[in-house]
Amino acid sequence: MGTILVREETLEPTFLPPKLPHRTAELALLTRRYREALSKGVPFHLLLTGGVGSGKTALAKRLATDLERLGRIGPAPVKAVYINAWRRASDRTIVLDLLRAVDVSLPDRGYGLPEMLDVFEQGIRRHPRHHLVILDEASALVRQETKLVYLLSRSGEVGLGSISLLLIATEDLLPYLDPASRSSFGVTHRMALAPYDRAALTDILEARAEVALAPASYTDETLEQIARIAAPNGDARFAIELLSSAAHVAEEAGHRAISAEDIRAAKGSIYSTVTETQLEGLSVNALTVLLALTRTLKGKGSSVPSQKLRSAHSALLEEFEEDPISRTTFWRTLKELERDGLVTLDTGPSGASSSVAMDELPASYLGTLIEERLGHGRARKA
Ligand SMILES: Nc1ncnc2c1ncn2[C@@H]1O[C@H](COP(=O)(O)OP(=O)(O)O)[C@@H](O)[C@H]1O
Ligand SMILES: [Mg+2]
Repeated sequence: MGTILVREETLEPTFLPPKLPHRTAELALLTRRYREALSKGVPFHLLLTGGVGSGKTALAKRLATDLERLGRIGPAPVKAVYINAWRRASDRTIVLDLLRAVDVSLPDRGYGLPEMLDVFEQGIRRHPRHHLVILDEASALVRQETKLVYLLSRSGEVGLGSISLLLIATEDLLPYLDPASRSSFGVTHRMALAPYDRAALTDILEARAEVALAPASYTDETLEQIARIAAPNGDARFAIELLSSAAHVAEEAGHRAISAEDIRAAKGSIYSTVTETQLEGLSVNALTVLLALTRTLKGKGSSVPSQKLRSAHSALLEEFEEDPISRTTFWRTLKELERDGLVTLDTGPSGASSSVAMDELPASYLGTLIEERLGHGRARKA
């Protein structure tokens, strides 16, 4: 057990959190829809879409566990079968997974799909259950004209027992389905998950940090900084991965808590979008503003009030014996840096106060890069 990471396994992608903040309404709605249908002995099919890290897999697995826990709903209890179709993009390999789920095994050779489905049906009949088949990452499968969506969503008609199908993909799959299957996924049979916003990511990170990390090892500011970095994609997976690597960076450095600089280092190691080429394209104004920012940020703080940055920048220009720049030029420079993705500007509620952050790289490292550039620039000028 580390000093910061007290339950590291809860930051792994395979960990299914007991609660899903910001997906409780969706979970309640889905649970209700499935219960209503299943209690009448009718299957329920659903197409769940959303971007990477929007919580599709977590939501589906939570739903599956919750439905299984309810015991008998209508004629039979629910058994969920989760299949990630990403690497098994053929009907046969998926049916082999289905067979395994009902405890029958067949060699992977010499059987056609109809025979395999017969065996599946026998397996189901031995233990009558309502099967919730979750086909995650189903895009590739559906795009290559699978028959399984048709067969599994018409299980009653085709004599396959009682099956509900939950299809998951990042894109809308309806255009790729045959007309008969499409009719199984009408408006009340579709759910699209919106990307998480920054506040939602902060809540998700907070819930995860509570179980994974030592209480004194992070603050609200830690979580807000990470949420800010992950917000453009609304991706909870990236946010949690960043929390995990920042915790590792901090632990390896012997810190007792995660600092803003640890987070920037973790971000830089996952993937840094700042390159020396990008710095080459910057004006001297932009470079000095960025340098003032790295110096103010160094070690502490995830962001700086813009007024404070402006004073630090003026002091820096004095130190470099450069002419001061106007307030307007300062702001225009900040906006340029924001457009280039080098800084994030946050406007306070009044619009008057605002703060500036740089999350791409450790501030100390970026500072060194800029000092080298400015050094060269000034040498050339002299
Ligand atoms: N609402 C949430 N609350 C807590 N953790 C979440 C939530 N949404 C996603 N996660 C976590 O974020 C990561 C990515 O979620 P996942 O369901 O795999 O996304 P998707 O399948 O849409 O790509 C997982 O570790 C998951 O546990
Ligand atoms: Mg997923």
